[in-house]
Amino acid sequence: MTQQEFAPPVGEWYYPSEDIVNNAHVPDYEALYREAMADVESFWARRADSLEWYQRWDSVLDSSNAPFFKWFVGGKTNIALNALDRHVKTWRRNKLALIWEGEPGDRRTYSYWKLYREVNKFSNVLKSLGVRKGDRVTIYMGRIPELVMAMLACAKIGAVHSVVYGGFSEQALADRIEDAQSRVIITTDGAWLRGNIVRLKDVVDEAVRRSPVVESVIVVKRTGHEVKMEQGRDYWFHDLVALPIASPICETEVMDAEDPLFILYTSGTTGKPKGILHTHGGYSVYTSTTLQWVFDLKDDDRWWCAADPGWITGHSYIVYSPLILGATSFLYEGAPNFPYPNRWWRMVEEYGITILYTAPTAIRGLMRFGDAWPNRHDLSSLRLLGSVGEPINPEAWRWFHKVIGKERCPIMDTWWQTETGGFMITPMPSVGLKPGSATRPFPGIDVDVVDEHGQSVAAGVDGNLVIKTPWPGMLRTIYGDPERFVAQYWTAYKAQGWYLTGDSARKDEDGYIWIIGRNDDVIKVSGYRLGTAEVESGLVSHPAVAESAVIGVPDEVRGNVIYAYCILRAGFQGNDTLRDQLKEHIRHEVGPIAVPSKIEFVDVLPKTRSGKIMRRVLRARAMGQPEGDLSTLEE
Ligand code: WTA
Repeated sequence: MTQQEFAPPVGEWYYPSEDIVNNAHVPDYEALYREAMADVESFWARRADSLEWYQRWDSVLDSSNAPFFKWFVGGKTNIALNALDRHVKTWRRNKLALIWEGEPGDRRTYSYWKLYREVNKFSNVLKSLGVRKGDRVTIYMGRIPELVMAMLACAKIGAVHSVVYGGFSEQALADRIEDAQSRVIITTDGAWLRGNIVRLKDVVDEAVRRSPVVESVIVVKRTGHEVKMEQGRDYWFHDLVALPIASPICETEVMDAEDPLFILYTSGTTGKPKGILHTHGGYSVYTSTTLQWVFDLKDDDRWWCAADPGWITGHSYIVYSPLILGATSFLYEGAPNFPYPNRWWRMVEEYGITILYTAPTAIRGLMRFGDAWPNRHDLSSLRLLGSVGEPINPEAWRWFHKVIGKERCPIMDTWWQTETGGFMITPMPSVGLKPGSATRPFPGIDVDVVDEHGQSVAAGVDGNLVIKTPWPGMLRTIYGDPERFVAQYWTAYKAQGWYLTGDSARKDEDGYIWIIGRNDDVIKVSGYRLGTAEVESGLVSHPAVAESAVIGVPDEVRGNVIYAYCILRAGFQGNDTLRDQLKEHIRHEVGPIAVPSKIEFVDVLPKTRSGKIMRRVLRARAMGQPEGDLSTLEE
């Protein structure tokens, strides 16, 4: 959305040490890329062969009904078979799967064996409430181990989870429950954040009042404060799991490779959030391959993906792929600077984290506190770093590289989307790095930067980022809305059959890709994806607002913040009281992350003759820049 200044640091290269390259899973990226592209289907088949299947597939890729591609057709599996079941039959049974620290400082660890048994119990609890294969279950929780278990339990019994990030409001949650028609919700009483309790159960109560489809609510006790439990609808998890029915033995449901695994709602260009659908087979293959090669995951690593499991980064790289690879993951509940700005660095040292994967907004936020905080800690366990969510500005990259990675740890700047399931454009430990560039496509992935006719643009020129051929981790559809799936992603380059990412990008003379930002009406706030339409419809649902337009404006820490322009209805006064009311209103309608940092009351909005709001003009105004060509402006 915001066009970050395109100023590639000329000639600034960082090369991983020989030691890192020689010991990496992929010591020669170029060779592997060529090998993969020579025969993409057999390349993915070889990757799929590294996983366990109940029954091997008949064909790797079925393009007969494009863009509804199918992968590993005829194959039978379950992501839980690979993430849990197969490990408990090996020495990994006693390896740590998950290390967790709560914000107040409490700790828990789970071996593969323990996690396996807990997930089985959870699965039996879900079954006892009538959850069956294909049913949708909504999960709305903080970052605690039970969230991971809840997701795996759904997968295990063939239910489709829809995790809603805990920062979303009651209305956003209700909309997602409705869209997925989920009869069961899993939540917690609350979550710890900056020493306060976020009262998640209250939000669920309100959302359920608005979406009568819900029959049962399972509540995991986390914070222990008083919550209202509705007889016959709400159940404490600890009560259910104590029942004889919650045995630690549970058969894993045999799934078709193409059976749905989860729905994850994300923002698009129009109002309603889109339920991105991923499946068991291709997603297992894609997420595990990308994690193993990009972050070079080995058995003695301690992997920390510091995202929220409620977003795709957490789904793919906290929950599923690390477990498929049999890795040890670390999960932390709370805020990075609580109680002090050394919280993360203390945990890196104490747990011996070897790979840290986070977002530019978190890096910039921690950088602000100065070098003294990380410098108090021994960070020598780290060997690789990673970034995701938005373009990383070179200053933040250099700080991360120097102060955290001590110039030893290459940074994997991974470009991907909820829709792609896993990393698409990313370095590997054998690729030379340029700060701010996501570098090169993953093996098997064919990307390009093109103009509106589909011609590749010259080096240094802006264009649309497209993906030219299918990949196993791709979304299969938008839940319940296949037309929108086709219109959104497959229509701009219909003749060519390419996937439109919605991002603009440039290539440089070395073929490195530089992501500029969203081309459409999506704003990235602190790395979280929001649609302008979601915030705008939230604003106009307030009685004072007749019309509104929102834009993303660059912000030093959060990447972008939201500015809102509102035309008021007759009889309303644009003043600070109303501003505060509108912010509060958005907090409830959409969620705290969507609250505009600035609200301006205006009489008109700049529109094209066809009535489309010219966000470009608003952005230029907000940033005090020339407004450019106004020839298409309505007045
Ligand atoms: C942006 C997050 C630049 C991009 C995994 C994309 C990035 C959107 C990067 C998807 C990166 C993600 N460099 N931009 N390394 N990673 N983006 O669905 O605009 O929450 O389209 O998935 O984030 O956001 P989403």
